[in-house]
Amino acid sequence: MNLSTRYMGLDLQHPVVASASPLSSSLDGIKRLEDGGAAAVVMFSLFEEQLQQEMASVEHLTAVGAESFAESLSYFSAIDDYHVGPDRYLDLVCRAAEAVDIPVIASLNCVTPEGWSDYAHLLSESGASGIELNVYYLPADPDMSGEAVEQRYLDALTAAKAASVVPVGLKISPYFSAVAHMARRFEAAGADGLVLFNRFYQPDFDLDELAVAPDLQLSEAEEIRLPLRWIAMLHGRIGVPLAATTGVQGPPEVIKYLLAGADAVMTTSALLRHGPAYCRSLVEGLAEWMDRRGYDSVAEMKGALSQQRVADPTAFARANYIRMLEGWKNPYLLSGT
Ligand SMILES: Cc1cc2nc3c(=O)[nH]c(=O)nc-3n(C[C@H](O)[C@H](O)[C@H](O)COP(=O)(O)O)c2cc1C
Repeated sequence: MNLSTRYMGLDLQHPVVASASPLSSSLDGIKRLEDGGAAAVVMFSLFEEQLQQEMASVEHLTAVGAESFAESLSYFSAIDDYHVGPDRYLDLVCRAAEAVDIPVIASLNCVTPEGWSDYAHLLSESGASGIELNVYYLPADPDMSGEAVEQRYLDALTAAKAASVVPVGLKISPYFSAVAHMARRFEAAGADGLVLFNRFYQPDFDLDELAVAPDLQLSEAEEIRLPLRWIAMLHGRIGVPLAATTGVQGPPEVIKYLLAGADAVMTTSALLRHGPAYCRSLVEGLAEWMDRRGYDSVAEMKGALSQQRVADPTAFARANYIRMLEGWKNPYLLSGT
């Protein structure tokens, strides 16, 4: 059985990739992910703010906007214990790329297109097989248009592409008003892969303390539906390889993402719950299912339930939404009324 796939120009033994997480924060952790059966590892992110801190460029921070900077800093400090400075990050990527046989993808997490391209160049020459760019940006400024947000992503991607000698993937938000069009524009701007989607962490309220309670919840399987739909709708329509992230808890989610058309399926929460060796269980579960269903290769099953190949393409669209609402039986409606 052939489980191989290609993502971001990289040949992978199978589609299960460890996405950015604290599991890749040390050389030992990266080796454990390889031993646990991951086909590739996306490193935890180096944040633009860390580079800015190094450069102590106060003017630049003012230009970024205090709000977005503060927002990302809070995320940053929440997971601060596994973050290292730019030099140590570069060193870790170098050592990891030498120590393991699977591709190591470095991750840059930014909010602006400026100030980090020299570093992206160094990173791309450090032995990393690729760079994943994560524009984790929440546009809360009422004066900022959707167009400006889109341009921010495009400028960041263009800057990373110009700086990097290795493929660049982009981890994107689901909140564009035209996701498919943006995917096409990212393709035109040279993206070597799109990761669907960034999982924005939502704060809760603590009613006893009357305070905002930011806590990090691991994902659940139901959360695959948003990326699943978009991967199914984009497969065959754009040429960029697609990676799925969010909600993979077991083999069924890996299988669904591949049937939708993903080229790689990423996982973090499941590995944090069950350990790095869970990668192997995911791959074994995929292989068992393929065997049962008579699939010889991942290539054969990829996109089999994408919108272009499924018997009823309206299943992904508005018509199905109307059918679903109409089909919902109202338990409070008296018969005959
Ligand atoms: C503890 C933790 C740390 C994370 N760190 C990063 C990070 O540094 N960079 C990044 O792009 N994503 C990061 N993520 C997001 C994951 O890579 C992934 O996209 C997200 O958790 C959804 O996948 P999952 O449902 O398999 O967990 C992190 C997630 C968790 C839970």
